[in-house]
Order: sequence, then C-alpha cells, then structure tokens
Amino acid sequence: MKLYIIGAGPGDPDLITVKGLKLLQEADVVLYADSLVNEELINKSKPTAEVMKTAGMHLDEMVDIMVDRIQAGLKVVRVHTGDPAVYGAIMEQMTLLKKAGIEVEIVPGVSSVFAAAAAAQAELTIPDLTQTVILTRAEGRTPVPEFEKLRDLASHHSTIALFLSATLTKKVMKEFIDAGWNKDTPVIVVYKASWPDEQIVRTTVEHLDDDMRNNGIRKQAMILAGWALDEKIHDKNYRSKLYDQSFTHGFRRGVKP
Ligand SMILES: C[S@@+](CC[C@H](N)C(=O)[O-])C[C@H]1O[C@@H](n2cnc3c(N)ncnc32)[C@H](O)[C@@H]1O
Repeated sequence: MKLYIIGAGPGDPDLITVKGLKLLQEADVVLYADSLVNEELINKSKPTAEVMKTAGMHLDEMVDIMVDRIQAGLKVVRVHTGDPAVYGAIMEQMTLLKKAGIEVEIVPGVSSVFAAAAAAQAELTIPDLTQTVILTRAEGRTPVPEFEKLRDLASHHSTIALFLSATLTKKVMKEFIDAGWNKDTPVIVVYKASWPDEQIVRTTVEHLDDDMRNNGIRKQAMILAGWALDEKIHDKNYRSKLYDQSFTHGFRRGVKP
C-alpha cells in the first residue's frame, strides 16, 4: 500500500518528470495543491480519476482520504508544486501515513528556484564569486529558527533564493543591508516562473520593494539575490576549472597554456 508524492514542477505542464507524468496518468485518485499546481497538468489524469483540490482541506482530512482510497486498493497520487522537498509540508503527511501503515514514494520535481534561474538565464554558482546557494524565506507570520535569520545567512554573501517572501520585501532589504550588502547588489524577481504570465523584474537591494510594488507582484514570486545575478556578469571573465584547458581532471588532461 503506497502513496506517490509527485513534484509537479513550477507551472509549465511540460516541466513534470516523465516518471511523475506516468504515475499521474495511471492514478485512480489525484490530490493536488490547487493554489499553485497548473490545472492543465491535472487534466492529463485519467477521465475516470477522482480529482480533489487540497487547498481548502486540513491535514487529517487529506490524509484520511488518502488512507481510505489506498486501503480500497486504488492508486493514489499527491501532486505538489515544484519539488515536494522544499516548503512542501510533506513530512507531516508522511508521519500520519506511516502510522496508518502506508508507504510513500516521492518523485522529485523542478523547484521554482531553478525555473526562476532558467527564466533569468542565470547561473547561481559563479566560479570565484560564489559557490553557495541558500534557499530560505523571510520571517513573517511563520517564524524562522534563531540561527537562520536572513541577516545572518546574508553575511555569507552567497546567492540567496527567497521563497514565500513577496510581501516581506521591506524586511528583506533591511536584513541584506544590515548584513553589509551593497545597495546596488543585483536582485531578480521572477513572478510565476514558467507560466504564460511569467514576469521577470531586474532590480537591486535598494529598489526591491518599490519595483515589486510598481509591478504589482505580491505572491508566487521567487526572489534571487546576489552578485551571481549581475546583468554585467558576461563582461567579468569568471571561468570554471571544469573547462579550463590547463586544468587536469578525470576526463581530460590539462595542457600548458
Ligand atoms: C509553498 S512554497 C512551494 C515551493 C515549491 N515546493 C518549489 O519547489 O518551488 C510556495 C512558494 O514557492 C515559490 N514559487 C512556487 N512556484 C513558483 C513559480 N512558478 N514562480 C515563482 N515562484 C514560485 C514562491 O515563492 C511561493 O511563495
């Protein structure tokens, strides 16, 4: 007896994995987070499938339905936006499913952080500039643990990807500046990455809040910040070792320049 948790990807129905799509098409029962998963994707399920939106359900209600259908011998999939491992609230579902004796298989998906980077045509890890990406959120109604305050994380000066923070941009700016970030540090906001109404706003730490407001973006946005997002990155001659002709590695012998 098994529940399949599937990453739907960021919105574009073609961005689900082949494995995820196959399971969705085979499922007798489909539960999905209707606020963020594209209906076009859900419409690829069997015409006979029982399809349920979960945005209005609470945890126990949702898990009871899953357990009931799985125990009745049906194939049940739970479709999550992006990749289920990031802000997917899957752990609490798995805890209850485990108690009910139900196994879980997770099929990963394309997270919005990577769809946003693709939309912005950005590499988040630039050799000699930053080799780290921090995935986090600003603190709002949901607190963040003491050692994960944005100001402390920003003190590493790495690339930072902010989920769930579109209404907290004033706070984000303050935390970055308090961490010593230059006001000109590039920020890219991607609203609804990979959807037909995707919007990309290039801004800076100083203008983040104004530019979000002027573009009417207050939800479904990924905020990518740091010098890896610099529009002028192509003029700066950062190079990886991977393709450096003088660098020897397992697949190629380096030559003296
Ligand atoms: C509950 S979290 C889910 C994240 C999801 N598991 C993922 O991997 O992308 C929802 C947040 O993800 C981001 N998000 C989800 N889909 C997005 C998209 N298509 N474009 C931009 N941001 C998105 C937004 O920051 C949104 O507030």
